[in-house]
Amino acid sequence: MKGVYLQSNAGDRNTYIGERNSLYMDSSDRQKIVAIMRENSLHAYFATTDGDQPRVRPVSPIVEDDLSIWITTFSTSRKVTQLKNNPRVCLTFVEQPSGDKAVTVVGKAEIVPNLEEKKRIWNLATFDLSEHFPDGPESEEFCLLKVTVDKIEWRDSWTSRLKIYEPSPE
Ligand SMILES: Cc1cc2nc3c(=O)[nH]c(=O)nc-3n(C[C@H](O)[C@H](O)[C@H](O)COP(=O)(O)O)c2cc1C
Repeated sequence: MKGVYLQSNAGDRNTYIGERNSLYMDSSDRQKIVAIMRENSLHAYFATTDGDQPRVRPVSPIVEDDLSIWITTFSTSRKVTQLKNNPRVCLTFVEQPSGDKAVTVVGKAEIVPNLEEKKRIWNLATFDLSEHFPDGPESEEFCLLKVTVDKIEWRDSWTSRLKIYEPSPE
């Protein structure tokens, strides 16, 4: 996955985004980001917009090694209606309870109707989706969202710089 970092210049809580560095994400950074996401995936925060009103709720995303990010939800939920009007989202993972490590994804979310993909992601979930969808992945209520990344802001310790990764245009 190619991309460019923008790194903050300060290591304190009031970091700001500084000069652009032409660095590509290496696999070790990707692994670190995926690890932060996975270790904190049961309590991530998913933001959509309802008109000009931001809406945030906890979700439990499923994250793959290649940084594919999925959210399972109800087809009739408010977030799905909101996404149909505006696909732009933010998704934040925060290390619990310290907050030392954190990843925020800025991107878009799309509904994935493909049944094979729904079954595949259902089987990747570390929690029991059948508690919410007793009729399984074929249930009309079961909705799969794919989050695509425009930018990732992350840090792997409280004192480290905020790093910003933007995938190169395809
Ligand atoms: C820890 C936690 C994890 C949750 N995970 C999910 C999830 O993965 N998918 C989901 O649709 N709702 C999840 N929920 C419920 C949502 O926070 C929210 O209440 C629900 O999705 C309805 O949101 P909406 O009306 O904004 O669409 C979770 C709630 C908690 C407390």
